[in-house]
Amino acid sequence: MATPIQHGLEIKFGSEYGPEEEQAVLEIIRKGAPTSGDACIAFEEEFAAYCGTKHARVVSNGTAALFMSMAALDIRPGDHVITTPMTWIATAAAPATLGADVGFVDVDPKTFNLDPNLLEAAITPKTKAIIPVHLYGQCCDMDAILAIANKHGIPVVEDACHTAGGAYKGRKAGSMGITGCFSFHEQKNMSTLGEGGVVVTNDAEIFERIALYRSHCTRVYGKSTKYCQLDEAKFPQGKRFWWQDFDDVGYNFRMTDVQAAVGRVQLRKLDAMNDRRRESAAIMTEGLKDIPGLTLPHTDPGCHHVYHLYPVVIDPEVFGLTKEDLVHTMYHEKGIKLGTHYIPLHWSTAFQKRGFKRGQFPVAEMAAERLVTLPINPRQTQEGLDYLIACFHELAK
Ligand SMILES: Cc1ncc(COP(=O)(O)O)c(C=O)c1O
Repeated sequence: MATPIQHGLEIKFGSEYGPEEEQAVLEIIRKGAPTSGDACIAFEEEFAAYCGTKHARVVSNGTAALFMSMAALDIRPGDHVITTPMTWIATAAAPATLGADVGFVDVDPKTFNLDPNLLEAAITPKTKAIIPVHLYGQCCDMDAILAIANKHGIPVVEDACHTAGGAYKGRKAGSMGITGCFSFHEQKNMSTLGEGGVVVTNDAEIFERIALYRSHCTRVYGKSTKYCQLDEAKFPQGKRFWWQDFDDVGYNFRMTDVQAAVGRVQLRKLDAMNDRRRESAAIMTEGLKDIPGLTLPHTDPGCHHVYHLYPVVIDPEVFGLTKEDLVHTMYHEKGIKLGTHYIPLHWSTAFQKRGFKRGQFPVAEMAAERLVTLPINPRQTQEGLDYLIACFHELAK
């Protein structure tokens, strides 16, 4: 067959672009390729409608979406924010860079999502937010998480960066918390030219703060830019000056119109692309299910899983290879790159410096030692998937 890469057997590039995206880019370039303008506004309206939320604000990336959610909740030094150790560092960096203390809660051994059974014990009087991560494309047990959070009056910010288009009991990922944060990075289920993100919310006040912080606390669009007329007395010549006011200090986390125009096309294709991922997952599950020593992904009933990644846990004694040996052999002998999402954050230097120790979150640590993610994306061919499955059969004991 052609190279594994040509059959979509790689982790890089989660989405696919075609002539519609090319056309959308050209149209915006011919309009001068502005920063956030009409295309961003249209994309926001469409993304909010897709998620069933009142508001959406597009941003430069998923990290910015999480950070602004924290800033809008007024997270400060000394506050405590709970999340999972099994995530990309952006989730924990959002509160940590604002000076908050991060508390980790171990994950559920079947789904690798934050384990609600361990959540309440981690809450302290200083806990100001909880950030569950809908890992690998499957939503967390949101009923359980929201029940605990509501009991303690703590807002929940959903990290839905893996799960655009996913749902929990009929509710779209991102629509259940105070905010939902998405990434449109090149590996995600939909992308806006390599980087991008969006925050969705039903809360008008939070939305207002996010809208302000995104662009230096001035309104670039929306309710019209906020201008203040200078005192005429200071300009006796009668010249009229206008100047821009800033409610506070903020950031520049804007998305550009060319990205948003692509995002609009990607959003229209998202369900179809996710269906292709689900089909690939079903083929992998069927092809791998009889191999001893592999635990294949668990789907919670009630979740619409969009398979951002396809996690497999290896039992080295039964399968015959350790995770390291499998990753190495697959790459060097078969041309297939397996992922290792994620090394638990409490193992990282960043969080060891903050007092965390190995051994604290055993399920996440077991995953670090045994879990690999298989390539999955909408470009995979049947031939490519057959090759992937055959490689596993060949390498199994
Ligand atoms: C779970 C999770 N949260 C947050 C992010 C941050 O998104 P971005 O890379 O767009 O900043 C990512 C990106 O990989 C992610 O996987």
